[in-house]
Amino acid sequence: MKVETIAAVQGDHNLHNYEEVSSDFNWADVEKEFSWSKTGKINMAYETIDRHAESDRKNKVALYYQDQKRHESYTFYEMKRMTNRAANLLKAHSDLEKGDRFFIFMPRSPELYFAMFGALKMGLIVGPLFEAFMEGAIYDRLDDSEAKAIITTPELLPRIPLDRLPNLKTVFLVGENVEEDGKIVDFKKHLHTCSDRFEIEWLDKEDGLVLHYTSGSTGKPKGVLHAQYAMVQQYQTAKWVLDLKEQDVYWCTADPGWVTGTAYGVFAPWLTGTTTVIIGGRFSPDAWYKAIEDFGVTVWYSAPTAFRMLMGAGDALVKEYDLSTLRHVLSVGEPLNPEVVRWGVQVFNKRIHDTWWMTETGAQTICNYPSMDIRPGSMGKPVPGIKVAIVDDRGNELPPNQMGNLAIEKGWPSMMRQIWNNPAKYESYFMNDKWYVSGDSAYMDEDGYFWFQGRVDDVIMTSGERVGPFEVESKLLEHPAVAEAGVIGKPDPVRGEVIKAFVALNEGFEPSEELIQDIQQFVKKGLAAHAAPKEIEFKDKLPKTRSGKIMRRVLKAWELDLPTGDLSTMED
Ligand code: WT7
Repeated sequence: MKVETIAAVQGDHNLHNYEEVSSDFNWADVEKEFSWSKTGKINMAYETIDRHAESDRKNKVALYYQDQKRHESYTFYEMKRMTNRAANLLKAHSDLEKGDRFFIFMPRSPELYFAMFGALKMGLIVGPLFEAFMEGAIYDRLDDSEAKAIITTPELLPRIPLDRLPNLKTVFLVGENVEEDGKIVDFKKHLHTCSDRFEIEWLDKEDGLVLHYTSGSTGKPKGVLHAQYAMVQQYQTAKWVLDLKEQDVYWCTADPGWVTGTAYGVFAPWLTGTTTVIIGGRFSPDAWYKAIEDFGVTVWYSAPTAFRMLMGAGDALVKEYDLSTLRHVLSVGEPLNPEVVRWGVQVFNKRIHDTWWMTETGAQTICNYPSMDIRPGSMGKPVPGIKVAIVDDRGNELPPNQMGNLAIEKGWPSMMRQIWNNPAKYESYFMNDKWYVSGDSAYMDEDGYFWFQGRVDDVIMTSGERVGPFEVESKLLEHPAVAEAGVIGKPDPVRGEVIKAFVALNEGFEPSEELIQDIQQFVKKGLAAHAAPKEIEFKDKLPKTRSGKIMRRVLKAWELDLPTGDLSTMED
């Protein structure tokens, strides 16, 4: 069978020969790029900002920020001063100390990044929260991490249950005419009076960096902790995968509430001193194409759902904008359909390079590189220096073309270092003390390209966002009408999957359109809009194991009209 390929891009790429580099690569060589390899003192904020502010890049634009109201830009030198001010502010108005958890819960804005890097300069562990989260989701994360401070806006503040979070001592508010009290501090007011000089808190390379909460198929969201050392892989993939060079203008569309928005929204590009665009506000095809034109974006990193929505907006729209600056386009988060790759070639005359990784991997792991042929539908090949394999359920490596667990050999640089408060959970990711097991199933072809096949567990990917069915089911059960709930991902042409809930009602409740809407609102308000079921189907009873566990596999089979498989563990 002939495989479809799209030939390598001609040009001078940072990763010029994949096979050659892969055969002889040592991560220790990347450490030499950073002064900490000699001093032993590390800090992500220094490597992303101050280092450049003290070099020829001093007056280079670090950040272009744009939303409907604001158009601003900051050089590396200005970012150094603003983040110093933020660090002084956090220090002066709290008892935050190195290693404490500092959360960020606000829409994108320059202040978000001042606070984030100011916190890093203080040696705090930064916990970003997606702005769509509602009270329940926020409580779980702040409680589990024993967060000591948070930065938010007056609009979002009511969603933080302050009285139930005794450890949360300080709230920095970004708003107008903020009323301060023992807990609330006006961020903008003090930012301008704080000194722009700050002594960075030097850290060990294994000290904490960011804490990202992510969903699994069971239990509450878990806190994935990354160490400062993650920068080694983030830096090197910015070179090899994003192919960033001195003159690039880079735009990653991800929100900093997710790992893509931290690792590749700001860390990776700034580690390489690259000018970075941040666009606030909601997705709109016009605004996005306009952003590429306005800033002359050369490297663009987005997600399959966004590309599919742009595809849906029509090819005529593309022609209204000058997108000729685009040099390199990438995607992450969910399977990138071959159709979308072909569309990219057709309308942008660019290949969309799929990349695979996850919150736990901390950086890109399997990728398509500009100097390599693309096989549409494939995630590409492992980042040089990282061993990826397909293993069976005992951890034996499988030969090409056999489907199995996508696994990574333990010890890659940006590997998560902890599941917060949950060492047993952390250990459960690893098999035979050798393999990190991702939860994805895949196979590798004879030529070493990896092909995604699905999740092994019940985790739902909707618009590139990971939603744990358990979290949604738990929230549904809190609704007075709901007796039982089972939640699955239903395939969707644009969003990859949408959330579908099967619900059995309590006595005295009848199925109705109003009830569906009421339940949807309930989840939206309690958890997050993207976690609310798009579809709700009422059933008299849900399929359960004898131990009472909802059998999502059976629900999925019902939904897709597939055979239900082995039902031996099902009750009656
Ligand atoms: C899961 C991780 C850090 C990236 C953003 C999502 C799915 C990710 C791909 C891809 C097919 C993908 C996997 C993975 N996924 N990239 N290129 N092709 N699936 O991070 O929320 O931690 O989710 O996203 O299922 O396990 P995340």
